[in-house]
Amino acid sequence: MNKIIIFLLFFFCIFSINAQQQNVEKRVDELLSRMTLEEKIGQMNQLNYSKGERVSLTSRVERGEVGSLLNITDPIAINEIQKAAMEKSRLGIPLIIGRDIIHGFKTIFPIPLGQAASFDPELVENGARIAAIEARSIGINWTFAPMLDISRDARWGRIAESLGEDPYLSGQLGAAMVKGFQGNGNLSDSNAIAACVKHFVGYGASEGGRDYNSTNIPPHLMRNTYLPPFRAAIEAGAATLMTSFNDNDGIPASGNDYILKTILRKEWIFDGFVVSDWASMTEMIAHGYAKDSKQVSEISANAGVDMEMVSGSYIKHLAGLVKDGKVSIDVVDGAVRNILRVKFRMGLFENPYVDVERQSVLYAENHLKAARQAAIESAILLKNDNGLLPLAENKKIAIIGPLADAPHDQMGTWVFDGDKNYTVTPLTALKREYSHVNYLYEPALKYSRDKNTSEFDKAKAAAASADVAVVFLGEEAILSGEAHSLSNIDLIGVQSDLLRAVKSAGKPVVLVIVAGRPLTIERDLPFADAVLYNFHPGTMGGPAILDLIFGKANPGGKLPVTFVREVGQIPMYYNHNNTGRPAPDKVMTLDDISLEAPQTSLGNTSFYLDSGKDPLYPFGYGLSYSKFDYSDLHLSSGSIALGGTLTVKATIQNTSKIDGTEVVQLYIQDLVGSIVRPVKELKGFQRISLKAGESKIVEFRLTTDDLAFYGRDLEKKAEAGDFKLWVGGSSKEGLMTKFKIE
Ligand code: BGC
Repeated sequence: MNKIIIFLLFFFCIFSINAQQQNVEKRVDELLSRMTLEEKIGQMNQLNYSKGERVSLTSRVERGEVGSLLNITDPIAINEIQKAAMEKSRLGIPLIIGRDIIHGFKTIFPIPLGQAASFDPELVENGARIAAIEARSIGINWTFAPMLDISRDARWGRIAESLGEDPYLSGQLGAAMVKGFQGNGNLSDSNAIAACVKHFVGYGASEGGRDYNSTNIPPHLMRNTYLPPFRAAIEAGAATLMTSFNDNDGIPASGNDYILKTILRKEWIFDGFVVSDWASMTEMIAHGYAKDSKQVSEISANAGVDMEMVSGSYIKHLAGLVKDGKVSIDVVDGAVRNILRVKFRMGLFENPYVDVERQSVLYAENHLKAARQAAIESAILLKNDNGLLPLAENKKIAIIGPLADAPHDQMGTWVFDGDKNYTVTPLTALKREYSHVNYLYEPALKYSRDKNTSEFDKAKAAAASADVAVVFLGEEAILSGEAHSLSNIDLIGVQSDLLRAVKSAGKPVVLVIVAGRPLTIERDLPFADAVLYNFHPGTMGGPAILDLIFGKANPGGKLPVTFVREVGQIPMYYNHNNTGRPAPDKVMTLDDISLEAPQTSLGNTSFYLDSGKDPLYPFGYGLSYSKFDYSDLHLSSGSIALGGTLTVKATIQNTSKIDGTEVVQLYIQDLVGSIVRPVKELKGFQRISLKAGESKIVEFRLTTDDLAFYGRDLEKKAEAGDFKLWVGGSSKEGLMTKFKIE
């Protein structure tokens, strides 16, 4: 009986979803049939809002020349201009209001790279949910997030906005963000905002880590590494997608019909709309791909860009191009259909306005609590010699460094709306929540780039008079993010010197890093007994860090990117292909080479003479105050047929006396393929809590679809053969076994 009811409910759901969709399509067709060519092109035009241009923008909206505005954040102004669209334009089509809500609107969560370190999709979804609730409450209904660019280069400032180097992790967390923003599938929910996956595609591979630079991603790599996170987010329902700035192999993304039509529309059946990045269309002129904005308009329309962000070439030229037969009316209709479909799905025609009387939800207590938890889960303990952390609260502590009390910088990059007055820094948290702790505060440097060493003696004296020094170093927010690439990613300025000065006082040193990217900190490690790494942790980063330092919380974050030893090792990532000459465990160093050593190719392998073969810390790495033991790795079978499922089980025990969380990671290696396969690939993870002494059996299910890849023929399928499989606490360790696909 129960089964029948479930079946009927399921059937009813499918039926009603279909009916809703058909209804939307009918409404789109009906509206489209009443639109002039100019009104259609107006929908394809997105403009930036500025207060000074409000009057002229409003009249353009009234004339039906605008489909969307971005960067308007005053709810009263939003309602006024929306009213112009609804009541004064001929067809009353609502505007969609966009903004970069990247890691929180007012309540700022850790930067996406930090959230990725949590390996916790639920936490990430909840963060996006809160961002949506806050943004929607003031009238924003579309965010340009999540950014799903695979980032293997810490010089690139936008690594901060990414979910790291791994396609599976980025896909899982990107999908979680989409669900969070979009109210888990209910786009018309009054608390939902439309997501926009970006930047399509390959932008994170900008050569040399220089922002906006060309990329050269060949087809297999594109399909196996750069595209999967986008696909996962689109399958999770992402309503819109943004093109990227880069040209890949000579074709700028906003003019690339292969990725926008063949892959996105035909293969993935995406029915939302595509927006260009900021002026990325007209930048095709600088690329040397179009001679003027008229040609830009032709190329992008025909390539499948539905809406142009700010550069105005559609509104200027598209009508003429249609009349000249360079762009067919079907192309324009298709683009407008995509845009209207999203607007109908969002319920904007029914609910275009924001309730300005609504009680404020900004910085709500539960939002701050969630941001604190996110900052806790995102922190990564890299080193903890002699169990220095957690600190006892009765210790006398010297708080040192420019990031201990930096309310603006703690929020991180790409924050337009967060207010630093709400940021709780470690110093503030110490005063508010740990007021019983005996501490001294010596910032020594005013900000991360400050080169004035005159206060170093004071910092050293403070450390000498305390039991332990906690040194807060890192990066100002503005040193990462868009257009903020660096060629040297050591701790900037004289911060390393400060650390050395403090260490010379002879007391144990805890280094707390607050930064937007993985920095090259190898040379600093000898001067710190413990290192807690925080990617800019947001509004509540301060109390989160103190909870971790004093043991109220236990670190459980894991690295979503490889930490290199030297910038010259970049790109270095865990899921690389094997060379024909993989390096052995121990490799030669410069000191091993005698003078006038004869040329030889015997025993030559792939590594650096000066920095070896390994990174400083591998992907997936992170310590805890607990100790976890892995045992009993068990597969349901040693071989599976194509289409079959493998169950993987392992026992994880917390062998310490402290409750903790561990991210259990599952990796595989496909040993022989029709193209060379990566040495390891993440295929599953679970963040689990274990009480002191507790053990749990963790179970993963792997289907052969999970093992599929785009092989020699560029078709996605699993290939028969042998595999290795690991379950462990990072990409470098774990229990290993083997299985086969028959
Ligand atoms: C960025 C996008 C962003 C857009 C709108 C561009 O410069 O590349 O990621 O969404 O601006 O602010």
